Amino acid sequence: MSRIIVTGGAGFIGSNFVHYVLANTDHSVTVLDALTYAGNRASLDGLPADRFEFVHGDIRDAALVDELFARHDAVVHYAAESHNDNSLHDPRPFLETNIIGTYTLLEAARKHDIRFHHISTDEVYGDLELDDPSRFSESTPYNPSSPYSSTKAGSDLLVRAWVRSFGVRATISNCSNNYGPYQHVEKFIPRQITNVLTGVRPKLYGTGENVRDWIHADDHSSAVLTILEKGVIGETYLIGADGEHNNKAVVELILAELGQPTDAYDLVRDRPGHDLRYAIDSTRLRTELGWQPSFGVFAAGLAATIGWYRDNESWWGPQKAAAEARYAAQGQ
Ligand code: NAD
Ligand code: TYD
Repeated sequence: MSRIIVTGGAGFIGSNFVHYVLANTDHSVTVLDALTYAGNRASLDGLPADRFEFVHGDIRDAALVDELFARHDAVVHYAAESHNDNSLHDPRPFLETNIIGTYTLLEAARKHDIRFHHISTDEVYGDLELDDPSRFSESTPYNPSSPYSSTKAGSDLLVRAWVRSFGVRATISNCSNNYGPYQHVEKFIPRQITNVLTGVRPKLYGTGENVRDWIHADDHSSAVLTILEKGVIGETYLIGADGEHNNKAVVELILAELGQPTDAYDLVRDRPGHDLRYAIDSTRLRTELGWQPSFGVFAAGLAATIGWYRDNESWWGPQKAAAEARYAAQGQ
């Protein structure tokens, strides 16, 4: 049994990981989260008090981080500024949290010699052409496009340097796009589901042909747990579930599931520098560590996610107007 710190555990993927760990292992969990606009304490309601602690604080707070690392065995580092569109309008918080925050955690991991797992994204590799048959692998060169992905790339490189120079016991995972419950309504899938639920037409950037490689957040969690338990120190593992779909196809599935005509969407102003396609080859994780995704059919996982948003308007309702106001100001 381990005592695990989860940074960013009140965010989308972090909160799913916390629920997953508490339900499937006997580890205890301490969440460290600053509750930015993206964090939601309600995503952690109902967890067992004897195995779960919530600490409201910033990963850049070195004294707080030091105190927490002194009494834990491992940290799984999810906390980040995570939205590409926001990074195009105000990059500074991305440098602060993704770079300085990761540096602060690495220094404490070095001092206390605790196991460190760094959560990253496939966006560090840039993008692929729509008609390119290749996929990203652990040897693909870094080529990030946005302030978000470049700060994630920078944080990955800090982790690698702290492993090599200071012997920090770290692993890294780069995962594809996640979907599931507790995702902020600024992101593509929840934005479109909650648009339809509130009588607004979904918004596709550009022509809607950009491709993302979707994985359910629970499959991401099981992969991270596998790496934490069996991963080789210093190594990077790509996480993906063979879920490539273009954005238009995803919107059509959402509209059909909610009983609307499948062409009832709007094309809006494209994102500057919009990555065309992401695709993950997760062979290494599957063959070396024996991981398998459990969510087979994307449409089924998406339907369950739509059901969750339909049933949990009290969770997302308070975020919706502010998120749409930010998009309206950008013509999206
Ligand atoms: P999110 O925006 O939903 O959650 C981020 C969380 O971090 C929030 O709870 C926020 O309050 C917290 N946070 C932000 N700054 C902080 C700080 N300075 N100190 C402490 N807490 C802070 O993000 P997400 O989508 O859950 O992503 C989590 C991680 O997974 C990120 O590192 C992201 O790069 C990575 N990732 C995301 C995806 C995806 O599809 N969303 C895919 C691959 C990797
Ligand atoms: P997003 O959820 O922001 O994730 P990322 O940029 O990390 O891939 O967007 C997923 C895809 O959906 C991306 O190609 C941009 C597109 N998109 C839209 O078409 N409309 C929208 O309203 C949003 C938010 C995103």
